[in-house]
Amino acid sequence: MDIPFLSLKALNKPYTAELEKAFHHFLNRGFYMLSDSVRQFESEFAAFCSAPFCVGVANGLDALELIMQSMELEKGAEVIVPANTYYASILSVLNVGLTPVLVEPDPHTFLLDPANAEKAITGKTAAILAVNLYGKMCDYDALGTLARKYNLKLITDAAQSHGARYKCSTDCPGADAIAYSFYPTKNLGALSDAGAVVTHHEALAQAVRARRNYGSEVRYQFDHLGKNSRLSELQAAFLSIKLRYLDAETERRRELAARYLSGIRNEQIILPPAETTHEDAWHLFVVRTPDREKLKAYLQGHGIGFDVHYPVPPHRQKALAAFNHLSLPVTEEIHRTVLSLPLNGTLSDRDADRIITTLNQYA
Ligand SMILES: Cc1ncc(COP(=O)(O)O)c(C=O)c1O
Repeated sequence: MDIPFLSLKALNKPYTAELEKAFHHFLNRGFYMLSDSVRQFESEFAAFCSAPFCVGVANGLDALELIMQSMELEKGAEVIVPANTYYASILSVLNVGLTPVLVEPDPHTFLLDPANAEKAITGKTAAILAVNLYGKMCDYDALGTLARKYNLKLITDAAQSHGARYKCSTDCPGADAIAYSFYPTKNLGALSDAGAVVTHHEALAQAVRARRNYGSEVRYQFDHLGKNSRLSELQAAFLSIKLRYLDAETERRRELAARYLSGIRNEQIILPPAETTHEDAWHLFVVRTPDREKLKAYLQGHGIGFDVHYPVPPHRQKALAAFNHLSLPVTEEIHRTVLSLPLNGTLSDRDADRIITTLNQYA
């Protein structure tokens, strides 16, 4: 029997009755845009993130762009970004007329390396964009110190880290604003596109709130050049339901990750680090292996699903031609060797054990 990498249908099945009820309520109530469900979810998600303000937006890319636009960073200013991230982190910087400066990650955690970030700071640097890749929290003590020392904005891309904890808190301390995606595959996933900006700064929250709705806070009065990036009322209702189960789902992810970490023993499979200063949300369980094509064929032959996050680094993408000349050996090695194993709330202990045994027999 096959073990899929991820089945969204199976993932949402336990919530069917509640989601259907929410849809009927939405349909019958007749307020389809920016109404009670969006406000309720914003307030619940802010509390979940240990922050006072949350603004729902249309997706994670918009959340990043709206943050940088609302900070009114000078056009062309530099934003330090980890070179090994999902393409959207870097695209967001370019889309708002800023200049991404790609830095090599920590080879152990794959996260933004504060020492490399510091070396990349110039007179033109305006912000650091940290990415909580695969569900792991970045080193916020070091990054916060850096941002204060050089008077930079610290922005977090938390599209993959809902529910992660840094020193026991779901907050990313020192970050001026945090961008979330609720794309269906995320740890907190809607049933369509959705996103949010979370912040401790009221003025920033207000600016994002206006900009997500054409730059308008008062009806038909436009104070900013905004866009249409409203969080869907229906998706907000769905997200409120799923948020109630997020802690339990994250716990299950942690149990499965611990099972993999203690069970997989094979010299050809390099395990991800087990964190101590923070609790990982384990969005992805990413191993590394020297011959990925061989491991892919082996897993396929054994009916075990997998994915690769990500096969081509951003600076090697055709769309980022201006960055193609860069040599970033750590990033390139990561992209050449990573492979993601199934890890989500629908995976049983039995299936996890079958994956472990199969991997341990891999030669
Ligand atoms: C790290 C990271 N940043 C940004 C995004 C963009 O989010 P969205 O697809 O909701 O625009 C994603 C989503 O895939 C992501 O994984």
